[in-house]
Amino acid sequence: MKFFIDTANLEMIQEAQDLGILDGVTTNPSLMAKEGISGNENIINHYKKICEIVDGDVSAEVISTDFEGMIREGEALAKLHSNIVVKVPIIKDGIKAIKYFSDNGIKTNCTLIFSAGQALLAAKAGATYVSPFIGRLDDVSTDGMDLIAQIRDIYDNYMFDTEILAASVRHPMHIIQCAEIGADVMTGPLSAITALLNHPLTDIGLAKFLADFKKVNG
Ligand code: E4P
Repeated sequence: MKFFIDTANLEMIQEAQDLGILDGVTTNPSLMAKEGISGNENIINHYKKICEIVDGDVSAEVISTDFEGMIREGEALAKLHSNIVVKVPIIKDGIKAIKYFSDNGIKTNCTLIFSAGQALLAAKAGATYVSPFIGRLDDVSTDGMDLIAQIRDIYDNYMFDTEILAASVRHPMHIIQCAEIGADVMTGPLSAITALLNHPLTDIGLAKFLADFKKVNG
């Protein structure tokens, strides 16, 4: 399973990169705004900085909701760096744009997926990635993991190349359950990734190893 980090924060991206397990980055307009990045030039420069840190796919989302606008924005984003994946919402013009980008060799991430039907359409249009939002489904008392399993079955039935990018990951159990089901990628905050490290028996065991070493070595 590929590990993406879901942030526009350069320090966190660098920290995840330094861990040696980072395969890519996802951003969205809310995450960019959280970092105070505004204005076309600053936004473009920020994407370039992210692409310089990570050797992997970096999702950059279009703001337009009409076909022509999405194509204009997406083509400009794709020209910034070979790592850029154009992130497009699952709406009618979005599907048309994904088909256009796919036909023209531009990678896409179809975002805001909350149903299997949406994921099926995105795959038919040729999306590189599809992003089901697990955490936001959990927030409305619907098991986000059921959607990941449903999409996995559908994509396997027809051998779609589209990768399932489990998004809106909130905690380490989301990551583990996604891995069990067979999501191709997960994207989440650094805290959910590093939480995978935690186990009290590891802490106790390491403390004992170090204490025993000290006993005989001073
Ligand atoms: C996906 O690409 C989105 O950026 C993201 O995972 C949304 O997560 P949230 O529900 O925590 O905002």
